[in-house]
Amino acid sequence: MDHLLIRGGRRLEGQVAIEGAKNAALPMCVAPLLTDEPVRLHRIPHLRDVDTILSTISSLGKKITYDGDTVEISCGGALRSEAEPRYVQQMRASFLILGPLAARLGHAIVPLPGGCTIGRRPVDLHLEGLRAMGARIEEFPDRVVVRAEKLHGARISFSHPSVGATEHLLMTAALIRGETQITNPSKEPEIGDLISLLRKMGAHIVVERMSIRINGSEHLHGAEHTIIPDRLEAGTYLLAGAITGGEVQVTGVEPEHLRSVIEVLRKAGMSITESSETIRLLAEQRAEPGHIVTAPYPGFPTDLQPPLVALLCLGKGESLVEEQVFESRLAYTHSLNRMGGRIKVTGRKAIIAGVNTLVGAKVPAPDIRAGGALILAGLAAEGETVIYYPEHIDRGYASIEQKLALIGARIERGE
Ligand code: UD1
Repeated sequence: MDHLLIRGGRRLEGQVAIEGAKNAALPMCVAPLLTDEPVRLHRIPHLRDVDTILSTISSLGKKITYDGDTVEISCGGALRSEAEPRYVQQMRASFLILGPLAARLGHAIVPLPGGCTIGRRPVDLHLEGLRAMGARIEEFPDRVVVRAEKLHGARISFSHPSVGATEHLLMTAALIRGETQITNPSKEPEIGDLISLLRKMGAHIVVERMSIRINGSEHLHGAEHTIIPDRLEAGTYLLAGAITGGEVQVTGVEPEHLRSVIEVLRKAGMSITESSETIRLLAEQRAEPGHIVTAPYPGFPTDLQPPLVALLCLGKGESLVEEQVFESRLAYTHSLNRMGGRIKVTGRKAIIAGVNTLVGAKVPAPDIRAGGALILAGLAAEGETVIYYPEHIDRGYASIEQKLALIGARIERGE
């Protein structure tokens, strides 16, 4: 069975080059559906999720050409309105094709999405927004059918921010008549990056404090764009440095995007130095305990909650971590407990009593970031850790065992 084998207890030391952001790349691979002209994306990360979204886009009629870290998405023939379930069901971001297809073709059939099992993850905000734009939507147990002869701008107000719904409605609004206002949108850097690409494609978008206004165009054109660095990958490697008492520098990053993470790590006693494109962490002590709450950007990212919990397992005292974004993103903690962690979960709260040592175990990776947390725990644990289902980790972390091995980890992939 495919697995990662980690022999723990090594201090990590060295530099890690960070990829383009997965969560920016995914919507940007969908944006070319809005035009027949080619869109070139530089710094595309080589990840399973990116392959999946590109397969989805290609199955809809787009031509995909790779050149190193650059992908060109161009017109490969007539655009199809029905997406193949085998791709969409693997990944939630594929659902973002619905609005752009409806805006281009007037109709679309898209299977309901899959993705990480970290909560209910409904799509109501996506569908309410499209309905406000004039789409007629029929929901079936396995798919959504949209008819949208004439979509128009709309005023949309989210009850709570959603990254995917913000991106979905931004892209759709860019190609329909009239002005759309999205109030209470997500503000993640990946959304800012998508807006940059859409502007290059000719979209008129104004970002205000509490809303985004989009003035739709009948025609968008091709563009070229370099994807921002992956703050979640960078954060994971910094936490890997912290949990192993090491010294790790992440390069090619945007430190401002990691402000809340840097603050939490400093409070935990880590020494951090930043330059314009690098962050260096030196761990001279075990982590101080803390109270951390995940929140939409600029709050502490929910995706780094599992790796942070791994770090706090070896902290000096009792920590409290509250997961406010996804209702069931703490299930993986039982695997950390099998490795000797002392985590008690009640609802969305985890109380973590710091222990002196973790011990290797055989554990499954349930999703991308929980998989990252188990790797971190394995790096710090005594003995061997075997992590099954590494394909979940590969969805979000490029060449993870090579990158970790380069900074001193003993980690290998096996079957
Ligand atoms: C994106 C990220 C994911 C990150 C998450 C939150 C991508 C590809 N994935 O996921 O890594 O963990 O943002 O930062 O960018 N919700 C609704 N109704 C909806 C949509 C969402 O209630 O229609 C809820 C979700 O269940 C969740 C919360 O809103 O509780 C935030 O989800 P959302 O921001 O949409 O996450 P994703 O876009 O799926």
